[in-house]
Amino acid sequence: MVPESIRVELGERSYDILIGNGLLASSASYICPMLPRPRLAIIADPEVSSVYLSPLSESLESAGIKLEVYETIQGEAAKTWSELERIVEWLLSIETERGDFVAALGGGVVGDLAGFAAAVLRRGVRFIQLPTTLLAQVDSSVGGKTGINSVAGKNLIGAFHQPSLVLADISTLSTLDERNFLAGYAEVAKYGLLGDRNFFGWLERRVDSLKSGMPADLATAIRRCCELKAAIVAEDETERGKRMLLNLGHTFAHALEAATGYSDRLLHGEAVSIGCVLAAEFSCQLGYCGPDVSSRVRRHFRDAGAMNSLAEISGQLPPAEKFLDFMRQDKKSCAGRLRFVLFRGVGDAFVAHDVSSNATLNFLKGKLGER
Ligand code: GLY
Repeated sequence: MVPESIRVELGERSYDILIGNGLLASSASYICPMLPRPRLAIIADPEVSSVYLSPLSESLESAGIKLEVYETIQGEAAKTWSELERIVEWLLSIETERGDFVAALGGGVVGDLAGFAAAVLRRGVRFIQLPTTLLAQVDSSVGGKTGINSVAGKNLIGAFHQPSLVLADISTLSTLDERNFLAGYAEVAKYGLLGDRNFFGWLERRVDSLKSGMPADLATAIRRCCELKAAIVAEDETERGKRMLLNLGHTFAHALEAATGYSDRLLHGEAVSIGCVLAAEFSCQLGYCGPDVSSRVRRHFRDAGAMNSLAEISGQLPPAEKFLDFMRQDKKSCAGRLRFVLFRGVGDAFVAHDVSSNATLNFLKGKLGER
């Protein structure tokens, strides 16, 4: 099967996103022509590595490429200074040169971490994204955002560093557990919600088929998300304007992740799922859209089986005031003002640059059942 190809147009840093079945097993044909010498350093999620390193390595080694593999810690907990240091020192210890490539095999965490290591190593080496989760295939592997978390907040340390190639092998989604699939699905729905009403309508009709793993529908959804993202990134690589729309649901999501300690208690995509519903309800409360919009958004996440309310998060949540503190720390805040992506309608999102703290606090109190 010939993969679908989407170009991210960024001048001399332009690159292709290839989407298809079995791309890891045929990776050599895409990767080898790029390498200046026959070696590749791979940073891999340990669980993903146990299943998908062999098709990748069989293809590359049979083409004469020497592989060096580093397995990271699993989960969001890997996005720390200490793990970054271990990766960078490891890359130096295996004599990774300025012209060499680093590849990230796994989900969003590995992509962010390996991409950031590549950005700082010898002032920047090239890297390849090999995303194996839905979330990484539709969002995080594209666009060059790389980084780690700080105790002060999510992704507060990082760099824009574009990959040189993204290989999204859809067959890897067959081993993705339901929880991670649904976490990724939140990012898929996000693309329809922020800018493509027809795509959102298509998702409403095809949600069962997507959940059952129908390859043709998955390919269509991934392609559409990547097309939308590629166009936005080409227009606004470093998020000065339009790219902010991609943060739909993320002001709430990042505060929720901080409140739950970046732990397994709440995956990033689960936080985005709840965050998109909250953004719709907040838009409705602020008078930007009618309740029909927020109920449609909530219904879709519920039909998908994705998280759609704070009540679904296990354990206690902090009070509304604390959430507000987390939101002020978010890198989307500007001059201390809160910034949200809100809705005028499905497929019609906009960036609200100066949302009042009081309105936000009242909304959060209502959601958390505080007086
Ligand atoms: N995940 C949002 C962005 O790449 O801008």
